[in-house]
Amino acid sequence: MPAQPYQPRRLWRDVTLFDGCDTLPEPMAVMVAGESLERVIPMRELDRAAAEACETMGQGGVMTPGLVDCHTHLVFGGSRAEEFEKRLEGVSYEEIARQGGGILSTVRATRAASEEELFRLARPRLEALLHDGITTVEIKSGYGLTVEDELKMLRVARRLGEALPVRVVTTLLGAHALPPEFKGDSDGYIDLVCREMIPNAAEQGLADAVDVFCEKVAFSVAQCERVFEAAEAHGLPIKAHAEQLSNLGGSAMAARHGALSADHIEYLDEVGVAALRKAGSTAVLLPGAFHTLRETQRPPIAALREAGVPMALATDANPGSSPLFMPTLMLNFACTLFRLTPREALAGMTAHGARALGLHDRSLGRIVEGAPADLCLWNVDAPAELAYAVQPGRLRQRIFKGEVIHG
Ligand code: NIG
Ligand code: FE
Repeated sequence: MPAQPYQPRRLWRDVTLFDGCDTLPEPMAVMVAGESLERVIPMRELDRAAAEACETMGQGGVMTPGLVDCHTHLVFGGSRAEEFEKRLEGVSYEEIARQGGGILSTVRATRAASEEELFRLARPRLEALLHDGITTVEIKSGYGLTVEDELKMLRVARRLGEALPVRVVTTLLGAHALPPEFKGDSDGYIDLVCREMIPNAAEQGLADAVDVFCEKVAFSVAQCERVFEAAEAHGLPIKAHAEQLSNLGGSAMAARHGALSADHIEYLDEVGVAALRKAGSTAVLLPGAFHTLRETQRPPIAALREAGVPMALATDANPGSSPLFMPTLMLNFACTLFRLTPREALAGMTAHGARALGLHDRSLGRIVEGAPADLCLWNVDAPAELAYAVQPGRLRQRIFKGEVIHG
């Protein structure tokens, strides 16, 4: 029989444990073997022999699963600080988009940037997320809008995952905005997305999923549906930016296609909630965009809760609608702006964030035996404090695949 590879056992003692769903009622011990969680037991059940066979890595504090940011646009060129000022003067996000600014201004800067330059710009943004507890992040394309520029963005996202200790999941968002060269021919652009972008990204293994922006300032429900059909033909899961600025029914259509998630959803109605529930899709809440755009329409939290639709929470980190690179701030925003409970907010950035990425089968985002050992150890007394106070510097250890990375 081949010898078992040596797997160092590591132990965290006396932690207050939020397991991705709930806070456990008593102090816990967490034992890691190699890259996975081997035992998660109450302290009173930890016998001396087992403890002595481990290296103790930490004692006390609050332990959560490593945070999952299931919706970001981290790769981009340029800045939208000027647009920020315009919006403060009262010009709306939609108006700026109609004038060729907004997403299209980032498209110009992203197209002009080399792959190397985009990598150099994105790296510190991703590092900011890691320093705030992220161990899994989704990164979208969507600022290239040509086959080559979209693939360039996805390559940067993949490279980030190779360079830094984090799991990166990539999403092709070719249908994000209509590029200027297709003005007046949005169906022609959707043809390009379906016939060239998706097949190329799929063949090169650059995309783990396909996203669309279903909105009056972007693409219609029928156009998004064509994108989903192309994604399905290439075996790629789908998701949608939907019901962000108006209610077009994009979430319900995405749900009919078995979407992983519908994201933003401020304008989601009862029909949309029922469709998500039926499909088992996750509702992704993005309070950073709600805050930045000074939106007043809140997502239908009570209806989602009542229907039992899992609610994930993400930064939507991007240069326009959410230039916010601090996941724990989103825990606070989700509670103060959307009235989530701290428990729901934390589940949204752990277990439900993983679900929105289709990774829950492997128990990612949970602290249960057999799950990947991606963990955070925080210098707080109770999990709710992570949502209650906005305070950088509380992450004592970030544990990625069983290794303590920061701390
Ligand atoms: O998630 N809604 C559309 N897309 C992004 C915004 C991107 C941008 O403004 O650059 C979002 O909010
Ligand atoms: Fe987004």
